[in-house]
Amino acid sequence: MSAAESSHPLPERFAEAGQGQVFAFWSQLSEEGRRALLEQAAEINLDEVARLVRTLLGRGAAPAVTLNDLEPASYVPRPESGGEAAAWARARAAGEEALRAGKVAAFTVAGGQGTRLGYDGRKGTFPVTPLKRKPLFQVFAEKIKAAGQRYGRPLHWFIMTSHANHAATEAFFAAHRCFGLDAARVHFFRQGRMPAVDFDGRILLESKGVIAMSPDGHGGSLRALHRSGALDLMKSEGVDTVSYFQVDNPVVRCVDPEFIGWHRLQGAEMSAKMVSKAYPEEKLGHFCRQHGRLVVIEYSDLPLALQREIDPQTGRLRYGSGSIAIHILDRDFIGRMAAEPREGAAGPVLPFHRADKKIATVDAAGNPVQPGRPNGAKFEMFVFDALPFARNGLVIETQRADDFSPVKNAEGMDSPQTAREDQLRQYVRWLRSVGAPVATDASGLPAFDLEVAPRFGYDEVSFAASWEKLTPKPAIADGLYLE
Ligand code: UTP
Repeated sequence: MSAAESSHPLPERFAEAGQGQVFAFWSQLSEEGRRALLEQAAEINLDEVARLVRTLLGRGAAPAVTLNDLEPASYVPRPESGGEAAAWARARAAGEEALRAGKVAAFTVAGGQGTRLGYDGRKGTFPVTPLKRKPLFQVFAEKIKAAGQRYGRPLHWFIMTSHANHAATEAFFAAHRCFGLDAARVHFFRQGRMPAVDFDGRILLESKGVIAMSPDGHGGSLRALHRSGALDLMKSEGVDTVSYFQVDNPVVRCVDPEFIGWHRLQGAEMSAKMVSKAYPEEKLGHFCRQHGRLVVIEYSDLPLALQREIDPQTGRLRYGSGSIAIHILDRDFIGRMAAEPREGAAGPVLPFHRADKKIATVDAAGNPVQPGRPNGAKFEMFVFDALPFARNGLVIETQRADDFSPVKNAEGMDSPQTAREDQLRQYVRWLRSVGAPVATDASGLPAFDLEVAPRFGYDEVSFAASWEKLTPKPAIADGLYLE
């Protein structure tokens, strides 16, 4: 029960729960300050916080992840790596049928803080394409629009924001007229927040009248979809399948008919895409089976020895199946996973993870404190933790180059530079697939900039269809923009 649902006044409820310090500076707050603090406090589920403190912080807290009875998960290989081409063709047909029937919605999680990129928490507005410098949101919008046109049914697009970036995200879309999408089909909603606690489990104040709160992780998207009414809207619109992707990945296929088709034909409630890890220590989660259930074990939780273990039969990494955070989820499964746990109640519950952080706070006199080392914990849910609860949870292979090049860091790996290069290589592959030669270096990178607008092509198939109609064919040269 959130604190707001109780008939008790909030300060009393907090005091009873041993969290009275949240209202320590009440007498010094203005009317408005008090109202704001009460609003924040009302978001907090005190029972849940107590449970997390007990289970994740308490002495003798169980380790978040255990490794017993672990084995690599199986997955559906692509035709290029031995999968059955006819089965992939059937999957594509089933996915296309679902898209034509309007059963699929796109869903972007964009509530992260984007600390590593250092871009002010509005990653979706980051300019990412090589030539036109289109922002990530525009890239997805154009892909979603193009897919809607291809299948004759405009898609609904759900975008999860955070408290910090919600208004800015809505304003960005409004300023760009939803990048050509029907605004009635673009839906924004905020994700939930969790309070940070010190290592004794006491909720921290960020300042005298503000609780230290942070987004509850991408796993919070399941609750947020439910709470915001998005699931009800999907139901009334006949959408039963949700295509989930992250805001930081410009090459993602926002709706991939093969993936959707595999998910539907296998009767899966949740599916995931995998790539082979590029090297043992690559920072991807690992698809595994544990106690007969599909799980993802984070790179930080799998010992290096296991990450490096070679399967003697294949000569490849035994735990080489990496998660790239692209999923299909059934609407009703999301509803089932979204229920907020009540003490003693049965039913599946997405677990929280603890992350120890330096949390800006105040001392007993209300003076600001900037800790030099971690002084408390934040709580987050991960969406892949829903996989073990899904009936027929499914993993399919994808080609990294066609689905995954995230912008996580300002420089180096997974940065704007690598994403730019991967987009260029993708355009070159599409051009080559239709017989248009492009000179590149050994890594497939052209010596000049070009760009393909998603309305011209958002995958090899749609690109080929547009290219065929194009007369005359353009010179492949610096500055080429196909739209
Ligand atoms: P990341 O784990 O990369 O986190 O999120 P981040 O917050 O974007 O970046 P850092 O770690 O601070 O540098 C992966 C995806 O999950 C979303 C992000 O927006 C991104 O699309 N996400 C993450 C949420 O929507 N909510 C969250 O609470 C966390």
